[in-house]
Amino acid sequence: MKIIYKRQTTMKVAQFSRIGFIMAAAGSAVGLGNIWKFPYMTGEYGGGAFVLVYLITITFVGFSVMVAEMLVGALGRLDTVGSFEKLAPPNQKGWKYAGFMGFNGLIIMTFYSVVIGWIFYYLFEIFSGLPIQTDQAKAAFDALVGEKAGIQIFWHTVAVIIVGYIVHKGIKGGIEKFNLILMPTLLLILFGMLAYAMTLDGFSKAWDFMFASDWSKINSEAIVRAVGHSFFTLSLGMGAIMTYAASLPKNASITKTAFIVTFMDTLIALVAGLVIYSFLFHEGAPAAQGPGLVFISLPVVLSNFGTLGTVLALLFFLALAFAGLTSAISLVEPVVQYLIDRFGWTRHKAVIFSSLLYWLVGIGALLSYTKAWGALFSIGGKPLFDILEYTTDSILLPLGGLLIAIFVGYILQKERVYAALEHEMGEKYFNVWRFSIRYIAPIALVFMMLNLMGILNI
Ligand code: PHE
Repeated sequence: MKIIYKRQTTMKVAQFSRIGFIMAAAGSAVGLGNIWKFPYMTGEYGGGAFVLVYLITITFVGFSVMVAEMLVGALGRLDTVGSFEKLAPPNQKGWKYAGFMGFNGLIIMTFYSVVIGWIFYYLFEIFSGLPIQTDQAKAAFDALVGEKAGIQIFWHTVAVIIVGYIVHKGIKGGIEKFNLILMPTLLLILFGMLAYAMTLDGFSKAWDFMFASDWSKINSEAIVRAVGHSFFTLSLGMGAIMTYAASLPKNASITKTAFIVTFMDTLIALVAGLVIYSFLFHEGAPAAQGPGLVFISLPVVLSNFGTLGTVLALLFFLALAFAGLTSAISLVEPVVQYLIDRFGWTRHKAVIFSSLLYWLVGIGALLSYTKAWGALFSIGGKPLFDILEYTTDSILLPLGGLLIAIFVGYILQKERVYAALEHEMGEKYFNVWRFSIRYIAPIALVFMMLNLMGILNI
């Protein structure tokens, strides 16, 4: 059967501008993973050693896979399934199934948009005052998550609608435009907060906590989570970067762009961690707080700063909302592009269909944390929310990364890869990169998955 791709039949395909692409890819990478998850995971797994594993993985695995993923998109110029299919050699067209990694985005969105909903709720709650005591803040957060299903569904729905609206406007008029506004604003807010945090005496403690490696606290779970998180935070292994790269301007350098995005993403995670822990340690609060860190501890700590604290909280949650939204659109776009490319659907129809899907499962995810419905939406005692998060973050994204590494390292003709990248990297670095994508990345990923499955236990 001959498949006709809409993109190939329509002459004019929207392309990002160069800066638009960088902002969109960085917008995808910089998300809740950086500002919400990275800081609390660092706290849970003991600080410096976790940060170090994370930084090593980003440098030696994350960056290489980012280049590979951009390459598949930029050469394929189709949706994820189409790109794999088009680039695979004639007798290996089965690789197109790897393209279904694009659907992971919708799985992630089921809980991602619930968390964005919490952020929206907090943005409004801040106006009625910050909680003064931890007990009070914890009770408020627990009440939201454990009891207020209706309110959560409301804000989750708001998040779904906003994301759908932006995606439905397309690459140029929606995704690029919003990223060009939201990303610089986010940077401004975070670096402004960093400047302020540096004046606090908690800053040096935060610095030590994050950069002094205490290996006694690190265990195999921490390592697996750090590796998994480095994929999540860079948006790798599910085709988001690949999908954006299909609209990469022809003259843009893949290597340079991947480097800027990786660098920005890492920097912002570190800055977010430093800011949050400076505030926390300034007030003598402990580090290990779990997912409630920014929803419970941070507001309480900021309440001690008076009116300034309210402003800081507002700016922080605004930054969090922006980061979440720009990532969310990149989670939905792969499936939308697949439906458009493959079935000739209108963008409108594709957005409504995919939004409805994850909206519905997202309700199940949020209900799985409630007291009333928790049991119904849990499997083997584990809430659906956690199952969805763990499956994507620790299994599906690394698996996607592995497929990309194998495809680019072994399946795609070397000459093609060479022609696309050598002039950007130079012979020497090209060889280093190729070694990383053929050996280091697959070994690290397989090692991690074996660990996860309990087959290996380092
Ligand atoms: N990178 C995003 C974050 O850090 C999440 C994400 C994962 C976005 C995968 C797109 C694809 O929050």
